[in-house]
Amino acid sequence: MNNYRTIYDAVGGFEGITRIVEAFYPRVQKHPLLAPLFPEDIFPVMEKQALFLSQFFGGPALYSDQYGHPMMRARHMPFPITPERAEAWLSCMRGALEENGLPAELQEIVLERLSGPAHHFVNTNETNEQET
Ligand code: HEM
Repeated sequence: MNNYRTIYDAVGGFEGITRIVEAFYPRVQKHPLLAPLFPEDIFPVMEKQALFLSQFFGGPALYSDQYGHPMMRARHMPFPITPERAEAWLSCMRGALEENGLPAELQEIVLERLSGPAHHFVNTNETNEQET
């Protein structure tokens, strides 16, 4: 990413983010630890994630413009996020980055930036399913 100012630019801007998100959620929906947490209609989640990752990676503040302060840890509190689920989330992201053919070095940078929040969102050690 040497010649890029932001990760957002390096991955190809909003279009690049969108392609990553489109490769990511089918993996999430197939993952036994993650699938039960997500709604069947995944498109609204995909849309929000594309807006969020754009701003998270240094692009325009698209998420905050529509939804206000991200407060992402708080938004994840209703869901039982275990350390195993954080790792699963990151492994789905790794797959999505590979599928999009991002340079290996850029993949590592992206994953490193996401790994902090992913572990920060861990809110339980209980591996049982969500109780509603
Ligand atoms: C650690 C593992 C993670 C799990 C298990 C997880 C799970 C979830 C779930 C279940 C939802 C709600 C889906 C719905 O609307 O019903 C959600 C929403 C979301 N997640 Fe995660 N997530 C994780 C990590 C992350 C990370 C690392 C990021 C970005 C840094 C992220 C960004 C988002 C965004 C932007 C939304 C939409 C928030 C909204 O409703 O406005 N998540 N996540």
